Amino acid sequence: MPGKPKFYLTTPIYYTNGLPHIGHTYTTVVADVIRRYKRMRGYEVVMTTGTDEHGVNVERAARNAGIAESEFVARMADAWRTLWDELGLPAEEFVRTTDLRHVRTVQWLFKLCRENGYVYKDHYTGQYCIYDNAFVNDAKPGDNCPDCGRPTETLTEENYFFKLSALQKPLLDFYKKNPDFVQPESRKNEIINFVEGGLKDLSITRTTVRWGIPVPGEEPHVFYVWFDALTAYLTAVGGPDYEKRGFWPADLHLVGKDIIRFHAVYWPAFLMAAMLPVPKQVWAHGWFLMDASKMSKSKGNVVLPRPIAHMLGMDALRYFLLREVVFGQDGNFSYDALVTRYNSDLANGLGNLASRTAAMIEKNFGGKIPKVGKLQSQDEALARETQAAIGEILDYFEKLNFARALESLWAVIASADKYLTTEKPWSLGDSETDMQRQANILATTAELFRIVTVLAHPVLPDTTARIWTLLGQPGKVSDVELDGLRWGHLATSVQLGKPQTLFPRVEKSEAIERIESMANEELNPIAVPASAPATAASTSAAGAAAVPAAREKIGIEDFAKVEMRVGQIKTAERIVGADKLLKLTVDIGSEIRQICAGIAQYYEPEALIGRKVAVVTNLAPRKLRGVESNGMILAAAVGPEGRPVLAGFPEDVEVGARLK
Ligand code: MSP
Repeated sequence: MPGKPKFYLTTPIYYTNGLPHIGHTYTTVVADVIRRYKRMRGYEVVMTTGTDEHGVNVERAARNAGIAESEFVARMADAWRTLWDELGLPAEEFVRTTDLRHVRTVQWLFKLCRENGYVYKDHYTGQYCIYDNAFVNDAKPGDNCPDCGRPTETLTEENYFFKLSALQKPLLDFYKKNPDFVQPESRKNEIINFVEGGLKDLSITRTTVRWGIPVPGEEPHVFYVWFDALTAYLTAVGGPDYEKRGFWPADLHLVGKDIIRFHAVYWPAFLMAAMLPVPKQVWAHGWFLMDASKMSKSKGNVVLPRPIAHMLGMDALRYFLLREVVFGQDGNFSYDALVTRYNSDLANGLGNLASRTAAMIEKNFGGKIPKVGKLQSQDEALARETQAAIGEILDYFEKLNFARALESLWAVIASADKYLTTEKPWSLGDSETDMQRQANILATTAELFRIVTVLAHPVLPDTTARIWTLLGQPGKVSDVELDGLRWGHLATSVQLGKPQTLFPRVEKSEAIERIESMANEELNPIAVPASAPATAASTSAAGAAAVPAAREKIGIEDFAKVEMRVGQIKTAERIVGADKLLKLTVDIGSEIRQICAGIAQYYEPEALIGRKVAVVTNLAPRKLRGVESNGMILAAAVGPEGRPVLAGFPEDVEVGARLK
């Protein structure tokens, strides 16, 4: 018997000089949704993710952390892997570019390219962006990097070069023969234009970088980060032995729009030169922006996944990421929109339909889904509508148009709500006719609900598994084959599971405050009280890049990085919608700063005016409930709740004096 068809998809492998935020989570969530969807369509699926661990940035970060590169990347890789596991997103393969299996694959790929005449040695001088690990084409000394805007450095090196120029025509022919290789269409045009514009040869080794995979017999040459990183996709499924596992070429590389060129030009070029099969598709999604700008640690606007998952559940985050923005386009992230969708679509929509249906079946049919009798035309219309939606929704999933798939699915939920409101099963009596009518209505609703549950499973895996048990359906929802999904297969006369609230409604400002507070604690691991954002017990956007480590002793040079001064509170006011926060303006000698402090439940604003406090003045700014906070007031965290008590000075001290 032939085995299942195989499907191989990848997320990018993430840099280890930071920890995952919502942007990275987005790609990984999408990959997981596709993986689950493909499994339900009968595929054997492998998903790969991992960490990109070489390059100058890692050298620097490890130096700053005072540990060896290997130790640094081991800790970071561990943190990434742990988070994916915690969020229910573990991949079949997690490749670290420092893995031995990967080192072998990179060296093998280079050997093939070289044997086939695509590699030569030369000198190269150019402007190099150390942040993006790339030479910047056509840049002059003094130019900034067009991608990140930071200054470039002039570098001259002896490099191995890859004859990218020789692959211009093969690449263009390839795009023509495989019109779906780059998606969405707009990106495809961008790539074709780029390649048509002419390709320069690419330097693929470095001698200025120490922390990289050595070119065998050619030390100190190490591989250029992208030659190294892209190859991870092949490493994951066997490297030189890729034919054995049968998962290469990859079916789908999911990437952000910023790295499409590496995936759609360089990567197929390397593989063509090595005469290896080229992936089938590269899909570039847009960015999640915060207040219309890219998330970054220095702007203090990174959104973390864990606090959201803790507060609302991972399914809610998955739903929001896929529903809010059309896959491929940029979108804005806001806590407000997240919680609004949670309450309206999940608590009131899906959750409410579940509890209404279950409660009526419980009350009138002893918790057993009744059998249908002779149906009325409105029952049949709802069945037809739902049946038609199945095809439409699967088609959207197939095209990775998740927003439309969910929109159509929620339209089915809305039809069920409307149907119940019009048919009013609760108003029927207990005569035989009325009971049969009730049975028909409730069984029709339950059947619709079964179909919705199956179709929502790739996006809401936990909740749908719970609904499946609630509906008393046999087996696991993840095992249902989407190809055979039809109206009319509901198992009836089965006992419903215990009723439960799937998505408890939340109060918006309270929920946002709790999420932000948890995020602050996570960003600043020395944090103590959850109730005190922007006191010493919290806020530090810089913490996102901190090396997750045991509480070690620090040297004086680490302490000296923190600048603390005496400040005097000039104004203090409450923030509408944030019970715990006060907005303060604080004179720190050289300037007046706006700082938010999580002390509103313990200090009256008026009583704070004129008070001298200890302020951390060199923290990256951060927004709390939309209000910028530029510094941190020190407080002790007292008692089990961590009640903040402001640090002060028994003697009079000059404003602006440095604390040492
Ligand atoms: N290490 C490289 C990829 C090598 S793949 C062979 C890299 N790493 S990254 O950690 O910087 O970024 C990984 C992915 O996260 C990219 O696809 C990037 O587009 C995505 N995102 C980073 N911030 C993002 C948002 N704010 N929104 C959506 N995705 C974003 O690049």
